[in-house]
Order: sequence, then structure tokens, then C-alpha cells
Amino acid sequence: MHFFDYKNDELYAEEVPVISLAREYGTPLFVYSHKTLTRHIRAYKDAFVNFPHVICFALKANSNSALLRIFYNEGCGADIVSGGELFRAVRAGISPDKIVYAGVGKKSNEIEAALKHKILMFNVESEQEMTAINDIAEKLGVKAPVALRVNPDIDPKTHEYISTGLKKNKFGIPFEKAVEYYDLAKGLKNIEIVGIHKHIGSQITTIEPFIDSLKRILVLIDNLKDKGINISYLDIGGGLGIKYENENPPHPSELAESLTPLLKGRDITIVLEPGRSMVGNAGILVSQALYTKKTEEKDFIVTDAGMNDLMRPTLYHAFHNIFPVIRRDSNMRIYADVVGPICETGDFLARDRELQKLDAGDYLAVMSAGAYGYAMSSNYNSRPRAAEVLVKGSEYFPINRRETYEDLVKGEIIPEFLT
Ligand code: LLP
Repeated sequence: MHFFDYKNDELYAEEVPVISLAREYGTPLFVYSHKTLTRHIRAYKDAFVNFPHVICFALKANSNSALLRIFYNEGCGADIVSGGELFRAVRAGISPDKIVYAGVGKKSNEIEAALKHKILMFNVESEQEMTAINDIAEKLGVKAPVALRVNPDIDPKTHEYISTGLKKNKFGIPFEKAVEYYDLAKGLKNIEIVGIHKHIGSQITTIEPFIDSLKRILVLIDNLKDKGINISYLDIGGGLGIKYENENPPHPSELAESLTPLLKGRDITIVLEPGRSMVGNAGILVSQALYTKKTEEKDFIVTDAGMNDLMRPTLYHAFHNIFPVIRRDSNMRIYADVVGPICETGDFLARDRELQKLDAGDYLAVMSAGAYGYAMSSNYNSRPRAAEVLVKGSEYFPINRRETYEDLVKGEIIPEFLT
């Protein structure tokens, strides 16, 4: 459920006409709904109210400082995967004791920063990483709180690029090796075992993979207990899908309900790492049609947003609804490819899509663009990154200015011998 809807054939973000935002801030423009986002956060909080839990928003989905502030205000923590995300989370006010740190390639300076901030735990992805964390903790004279990210080898039935919990994926430690690695961790002086972590993939639209993987992890927790290793935090990752087209993903409350019988009677704090299901449908990408173009084969709508602004269609062939900002006569339909200005054939937002006939100058909204939209955008073709605006009721606030050409070259240096 989101708060982008039509009133008299005009698309609104909450109570603000999208066209007025497009005119004021220009396009491409990411527009977020405060009401949608807080609603999603509260859906998670309500769902897990009966468990001791920490909701760690996965920053990788969207790390805009203003949005992070909303998570902070709602009492959330952060799931981070880099020193940069640590910086952003802490800067937004998020308490380090609600920060969990995953990722297969943590560098020593990043590990050190996280230790100094005293984060809740490192989700460790390999034996070598564990030793590295132990060494750095020893150097700093501290104990590093760790969970091992266990790969439960469960198929989340999602796009192969975003499935992470299969044996062939690079993530986590093999399920069969888990006890051995926990033993190893136990033997390391500057490691304190506090938890266990799993994350099996993203855009998961059924409950079963969550249940199946949790069952495996719970067996492991019991085995560890028998060996005197106590797990206080059970991090069940993120991954809950959203509706892009016809999907019908479970609500956070369904997830919580299905997990309840499995977790009953356990003295454990649940950590959640939702990203997409928080922000995905809380944001849209507004763009303007520059030209329409007809070839023998196809109709094209060329827009001012391209794969550098929203990479998902290109990278995963992901489907995003495209709605006209002003709705017109519904009989005027076309089939078209909606493409960007980038010099790549793969630069499209939609292919063979049935749409209202659009003319040059018309605005369109690419829906469900709040997660992995701006966060994955780039400057390819020297295109400044888009602006971002947050709508709250009838008010709206710029939360990221459009990049300038100067921004494009701000870090570049011409060596003296070339001047
Ligand atoms: N926790 C970990 C350890 C993760 O790797 C991820 C996502 C999440 C949490 C959050 O998952 P979510 O709740 O958002 O599904 N760029 C891709 C998605 C990549 C997801 C990577 N990991 C896309 O646009 O579909």
C-alpha cells in the first residue's frame, strides 16, 4: 500500500501533485512519500511486537540522510555493508548498538571503524575475515561481537543475481562448516560470539524459504548450545518482496506469524534487515518524455531518465510500472519501449509496454523506485545524478539537490605535466 495515487486523473504523492514537483525541481526526480515509509516501518514494528527485536534497515536499498533520519526517529537500527554506510548511519544518529555489519569484503580500516563505534555485531562471512577481525580487535584492546553468516542452502526462488543463500553463492559460511567455525571463533581471544545470521536473497514473495531456512538455523543454534555456545541474537536478514506488478508478497505480519511457532520459548533477540519492503514502494522516479520515435519495428518513448538513474530494468530485466503523471483518454494506447538517453541498447526502463499514448513533454512516473534506485545510480555518460524530494502530506522538502557538472569532476586532478 502506498500513497501515490490519482485524483482527477492527476498523479499525486500524498497531497501534492507530482507534476508541480517535476516543474519545480526538474526531472529525473525521485519523489518519496513520508506516510508510506512510516507506514511500512510501523508494519514491521507492529508485526514483531511480541518478540524482543531490532529492525536494522538495510542501507544499501536507499541511504539518503533524510530517509535515514526517519528510520532513526522510528527507533530503527541499520544493516550496513561498508565503512561508507557506517558513516551515513552514525551521521543520521542511528545508535551503533543497533548496527549490524555484513559483507564478504570488509577492509581493515572499515573493521577498525566499526569496532571503535562499538556496533552491535559483525556478520562474519569467512574464516579469514574472522581472524582479521580478531587481530584488529586485539590491536585495539577490545572484544569484537560477532555472528557468523550461515548459508543455509535454501532456494529463495528469486532472480539469480539477488539470491544469496545457495551453496554456489559467495555469501556466508557453508552450513556444514558452521559448528566447526563457531568452535574456531570460540578459541579466538578477541572474538565474542553473540549471534547467528542468515540472509537468503531479495524480492522473496513466498513464506516458505524464510521458514525453511530458519528451521535449519534453529537446529544449528541447538547444536551450538549443546557445545556451550550461546546465541543471543538471531539475525534473519531481509528479503521480503514487494509488489512491482502482480506479485503478492507476504505482509510483515504474516512473516512474524509464521515464525512465531518456531521461535516460541526461545530466549533470543530477533534482528531484521529489511530494505526493499521498507522503501521500494515509498518512492517513484519522475521523468519527462523528450521525444517519441517510430521505427519499422517499434515505438520508442525517449525519456530524460536512463539506466544511470534506475539500473534495475537493465541489470535484472526488472519490471517497474510506468504511469502517466497526467492521465488522458484511456482509448489512446500504444505499445512502446521506454528508453533513456544513454548510448547503450540496454538502456531501457520498459520494453514492449502497453501505455497511454505519450507525447514529447509529457511526464511519466516509474513506480516502485524507492529501493535500489538512487542508491544504484551512476554518472555514466557524465549525467549528473537526479534530485530527490520528500513529500509529507501537503508539504514537500528537497532532500538531495541535483548534481551539477562541477560535481562530476570534483575529485579529478590533472597532473602538472599535462597542464
Ligand atoms: N541483508 C543483507 C545481508 C543483504 O545482502 C540484503 C540485500 C538485505 C539485507 C536487504 O534485502 P531486501 O530486504 O532489500 O531484499 N539490487 C538488487 C537487490 C540486491 C539486494 C542485496 N542484498 C535489486 O535491485 O533488486
